[in-house]
Amino acid sequence: MDTAVVILAAGLGTRMKSKRAKVLHGAGGRALVEHVVQAARAVATPDRIVVVTGHQAGEVEALLAPTGVQFARQIEQKGTGHAVLCARKKLKRHDGLLMVLYGDTPLLSGATVRALYETQASIKTASKAAATLITTTLTDPTGYGRVILNERGGVEAIVEHKAATPAQLEVRLINSGIYCFRADLLWKHIAEIEPNNPARELYLTDMAAILNKHGHRVQQFHLADSSELLGINTRVELAEVDRILRARKTRELMLAGVTIERPETVTVDPQVRVGSDTLIEPFVRLLGNTSIGEECRIGQGSILESAALAHHVTIAPYTLIADSRIDPGAQAGPFSRIRMDAQVGPEARVGNFVELKKTRLGAGSKSQHLAYLGDSDIGERVNIGAGTITCNYDGEKKHQTKIGAGAFVGSNSTLVAPVDIGAESYVGAGSVITNNVPAKALALGRQRQVLKLDWATNRKKKVSKKKPQ
Ligand code: UD1
Ligand code: CA
Repeated sequence: MDTAVVILAAGLGTRMKSKRAKVLHGAGGRALVEHVVQAARAVATPDRIVVVTGHQAGEVEALLAPTGVQFARQIEQKGTGHAVLCARKKLKRHDGLLMVLYGDTPLLSGATVRALYETQASIKTASKAAATLITTTLTDPTGYGRVILNERGGVEAIVEHKAATPAQLEVRLINSGIYCFRADLLWKHIAEIEPNNPARELYLTDMAAILNKHGHRVQQFHLADSSELLGINTRVELAEVDRILRARKTRELMLAGVTIERPETVTVDPQVRVGSDTLIEPFVRLLGNTSIGEECRIGQGSILESAALAHHVTIAPYTLIADSRIDPGAQAGPFSRIRMDAQVGPEARVGNFVELKKTRLGAGSKSQHLAYLGDSDIGERVNIGAGTITCNYDGEKKHQTKIGAGAFVGSNSTLVAPVDIGAESYVGAGSVITNNVPAKALALGRQRQVLKLDWATNRKKKVSKKKPQ
């Protein structure tokens, strides 16, 4: 059956107390509305999904454009019923099923959306029910619309929390905001919704009573497990949903063979891949499209964003890696910073307080302590002494440093780029290198040491002569 989905995402979300539209807030590494679009894909192709946008429509549409969904604007937010009306023009000649999802229920799974669709579409009930909606029973139903049943167990009406009588407030059966309508009946009667509530909004939930009035049946699809249906209205709920989504991801990784210590402290974005027998220590963040090979170790407090780690890589604690690659058997950290297209070659080592920016460190090379290596191409088996700095910036432009295979750069050297250090050459400790160093040469760029023998003894004598007796 022809099925379309309308996702409501136009509201600001007053209770978030934010300048940003609610559906743009993130949980589990994605914006709320992205999760809902993902769930909608279980029943419709992107061209049959219409997202209703309003607050920060431009941002929401830009975010979702790559998914290929359609958009309809709701300029003024006059309620959930009005929002569905705004999507109508995008759904011409549509007389199959129309599902409505709210952009602020990110835990909803595709399987549940599919099950709702099948309940409404099944031949047995199709002729009887005009709509099916997902309900659940909550211990604390505060804020949700209450579902009022008739004697036959059908849905008679949905009463919003604010409009409910004390008796209705006792009802713990709630409306999840996930509906499957017969499109013909929805469009035929939707104009009958009236703004008869304090907010003067058009509530989509009024459709239940309207369809009943016309002799149609509305049925519930009751979910015993309400965990998927949590709607986000405040930042407290946002944090709760984030926790649940993060736990799903770490659990998935653990079941696939990754060891995670204290998983409740570890943050992993949805796209991240981790190989088996890799160990992740507490408080690690793996973000973007980071990928990690097998048998790696990611030290406590490290943050990896769009990093590509091969197999057998060791990252010691508190290391930052962004948009960079670490080859097999390499080691980095503790406290290293590797960024902007840097590459740590096979078996290479980067130690504490070493920063690599747009720099390739060749196979087996080492920079173990206190260095800045920027815009550099460093060959294999190179030793970079502690405190080495590449001066890559002249105040206007960035310049390259090249260091050939097997070179030895002494501690506290300053390499003023552009400069080439030849293969197998030596740079004496404390040198300032401004000219190229040929292969196999020794370069010294420092003051020769001056020695004054017995200087201290003589000084003491002078001082004691001057002292009055
Ligand atoms: C809504 C339901 C309530 C249900 C709850 C489930 C109504 C009137 N109430 O309440 O029965 O229990 O969801 O979570 O539908 N939106 C628009 N345009 C508007 C208004 C809202 O696009 O004019 C969007 C919002 O961006 C949001 C969604 O619709 O994503 C739901 O709106 P919200 O204000 O959060 O509704 P609730 O009060 O939670
Ligand atoms: Ca809500």
